[in-house]
Amino acid sequence: MDIEILNRSLFESKTPLLALPVIENQEYGELNEVNDKLSNVIKELIKDKEFDPKPNQLYLLNTLGNLPHKKVLLVGLGKEEELTLEKIRQAYGSCSKFVNSLKLKHYSTILLKSKRFKPEEITQALVEGSRLGSYQFTKFRTKDKDQLTKINLLSIITSNKEISNSIKKAIILTDSVFLVRDLVNNPSSLKTPTYIGELSKKIAKELGLKCTLLNKAQIEKLKMGGLLGVSKGSSQPPLFVILEYRPNKKAKTIALVGKGITFDSGGINLKPWDGMKDMKEDMAGAATVLAILRTAAMLRLNINLIGLMPLTENMPGGGAMKPGDILTTYSGKNIEMLHSDAEGRLILSDALSFAEKNFKPDKIIDLATLTGACIIALGTQAAGLMSKNKELVKEILKASEETGERVWELPLYDEFKKDVESSIADVKNIGNPKGYAGAITAASFLSEFVEKTPWAHLDIAGTAFAEEPGPCTALGGTGFGVRLLTQFLLNESK
Ligand code: BES
Ligand code: MN
Ligand code: ZN
Repeated sequence: MDIEILNRSLFESKTPLLALPVIENQEYGELNEVNDKLSNVIKELIKDKEFDPKPNQLYLLNTLGNLPHKKVLLVGLGKEEELTLEKIRQAYGSCSKFVNSLKLKHYSTILLKSKRFKPEEITQALVEGSRLGSYQFTKFRTKDKDQLTKINLLSIITSNKEISNSIKKAIILTDSVFLVRDLVNNPSSLKTPTYIGELSKKIAKELGLKCTLLNKAQIEKLKMGGLLGVSKGSSQPPLFVILEYRPNKKAKTIALVGKGITFDSGGINLKPWDGMKDMKEDMAGAATVLAILRTAAMLRLNINLIGLMPLTENMPGGGAMKPGDILTTYSGKNIEMLHSDAEGRLILSDALSFAEKNFKPDKIIDLATLTGACIIALGTQAAGLMSKNKELVKEILKASEETGERVWELPLYDEFKKDVESSIADVKNIGNPKGYAGAITAASFLSEFVEKTPWAHLDIAGTAFAEEPGPCTALGGTGFGVRLLTQFLLNESK
């Protein structure tokens, strides 16, 4: 979906559909370039309770006043004093979905004016929302392909010349989100570790990133027993991808680690069918890391970034690891492997200590679809955030507020360490036997593999994959975390 700026008045531009943002109680003509006549028509509709200008409310009209546009869509945004950028994103997300359902390929809108936000901020939010809402995964549709026509153009009607950078930024960000959505939505038998490795290489080459692929032999040599253990039951070889973006020696270095289980069957502790059906999503963390490196490079952020993606399937083949096995990790610590479905923490243990030892980053953040327990605790509207570092928590919460990608902190108390103590090794890969605080005991396990670097863990099990569509998301992969952590990095680079 392309975005263009139309430097013409509302009355001189003719598009198939005009989306008009409506703020409650706003003297419409005053703030926006809509004349009194139109303003009165809208007021009338509101007065007659035909249209309620609350957030996410839409109202379709076949032309309005003397506008030349074939259709006019009123887009509710609520009260000015309660306006947020997230409301703008969601309104335009809903708007794109509606335009898609009308099978229109082009719509226009005016650039909303508000006293609370700069035109640049409003532009970024509206472009993000409209593009995110328009996403559809149609690759495998043959039947009704032409029914699924996608919007290919949004025209922003404005005389403001300062907004083109915001448009570019929003396009880069949303394209990165689409990269994650596409990867998550693709079937596991296609997106093997090898496939994701090749794709990473391709993207890295285009952007001038350094990309190192460690194959099975190299993983063995490095003694990454966690990653190797998980891969044993699969016919696909594991892969460890390292991406590096280093624009400035003097800048901070952040390491991002993403869980890359390209299919999680549970292994020998096989999942039941309903627990397994969406497990192609279990590489969302790794895809998000790849997408964030892409974004950072394209936005030329002034910060050094290391992206680490341990990639493997978790399968129950004849060679699979068995409950009771001992895995010696990259750190040297031994894990008593008691449940093969708690595999994410095994591959992350290697990646986290590898990040700390080899790159000495200032901060480490990992993203992982790690536990069903996190979904029980928080549902699907927020990712779990666990960290011992208060400052890092604050910084991530700030980026969350700014991007509308919600996170909620869960307490990583020291007391949880005893839940992952093993009687025969250093740690065990299951937590409390009653299943208490499963998201936190998983994080507590991970904390054993970060010695001194400020580190935060994001459990995205509930947010990476949508079972029902939202204003800015479709069924399937959401791309959660790309905008959140890019904003975090942007704040860090200042
Ligand atoms: N990949 C799953 C977690 C998950 C569940 C992600 C649902 C997305 C949606 C993870 O590997 C897993 O299986 N975790 C187990 C851990 C348990 C065996 C200690 C779980 O949550 O049940
Ligand atoms: Mn699992
Ligand atoms: Zn998993």
